Amino acid sequence: MAYNLDQKTIIVTGANSGIGKAAARQLASLGARVILACRSAERGAQAVAEIQQISSSNKVELMLVDMSSQQSIRQFVGEFIKRFPRLDVLIHNAANFDHTLKKPILTADGVETIFATNHVGVFLMTQLLLDTMKASAPSRIITVASKGLITYPFLDLELDNLNGERKFSTQHAYYHSKLAQVMYTFALAEKLKGSGVTVNCVRVTNVAIPDDRLTHLPGWLRAIYNIKRSMSITPERQAETYVYLAADPAVQSITGGYWDEHNRQVRANKNAYNQDTWKKLWEASQRLAGLSG
Ligand SMILES: NC(=O)c1ccc[n+]([C@@H]2O[C@H](COP(=O)([O-])OP(=O)(O)OC[C@H]3O[C@@H](n4cnc5c(N)ncnc54)[C@H](OP(=O)(O)O)[C@@H]3O)[C@@H](O)[C@H]2O)c1
Repeated sequence: MAYNLDQKTIIVTGANSGIGKAAARQLASLGARVILACRSAERGAQAVAEIQQISSSNKVELMLVDMSSQQSIRQFVGEFIKRFPRLDVLIHNAANFDHTLKKPILTADGVETIFATNHVGVFLMTQLLLDTMKASAPSRIITVASKGLITYPFLDLELDNLNGERKFSTQHAYYHSKLAQVMYTFALAEKLKGSGVTVNCVRVTNVAIPDDRLTHLPGWLRAIYNIKRSMSITPERQAETYVYLAADPAVQSITGGYWDEHNRQVRANKNAYNQDTWKKLWEASQRLAGLSG
């Protein structure tokens, strides 16, 4: 990939680990100014140092944000807008898949943590950065879902279960939040047609998770992850799709797409295309994010 991203400013959330870190490294190597949006000062600083060294770039920096906290997101965006005149690409990579959760835990904003992190936080950050992105057009928003949604063909938006009040497991809450990401991508792409801001969603496949991310899990679950790893691709390989969608001229005006790891558009679950549901999700997201219409 030989893109020149010298003039581009890019935010990657959850960039201290896995696919996000690999994408940040690739984008920095192509010359972009890359903001690693991470919740841990320590893990974030370590990633910045590593990426600066490998990419030989001094345009890599850390800004702290906890995607589960609306106050933190508002503070992050306020600081970003003060410091940077433009935003060319926003990559919503961070996600919570915390296997240790046995019941729904509400954030300070009163939203179940997985839905708060993987959907409501994404919605809020995007809405707050939209004016900057419109002023920077052509610009691109990239969201992240999961190939695992294939195993939930009938899953739909659960307006009566957004906080896991009716049923909860990490797995269910995670896939529900990822389905919401796909619907949000399609809905936002429609709304932004003609603005010069595109929105595309990556259908992340089975990607190796490093050992140091699994230490808190019980042995049986680590064993499952080890088996999965033998069938997975590397974070670097999956990050190439992030970079393709962030940089390739061929996708500059393509919006509302759902993309696999071979940079091909694929179909999402049937329910993801229901425009009535998009509207309901939008209204619920506004309400949960404390934004008015
Ligand atoms: N790996 C797979 O097989 C797979 C499959 C399907 C989809 N995906 C998706 O791919 C994306 C990247 O996953 P990955 O495999 O690279 O996982 P990962 O290595 O665990 O990275 C997840 C990143 O998200 C960050 N994060 C989590 N909660 C956050 C919060 N509240 N605020 C800010 N950052 C937060 C983590 O930061 P900390 O270090 O602070 O925890 C970490 O940097 C995610 O959206 C995931 O859902 C992955």
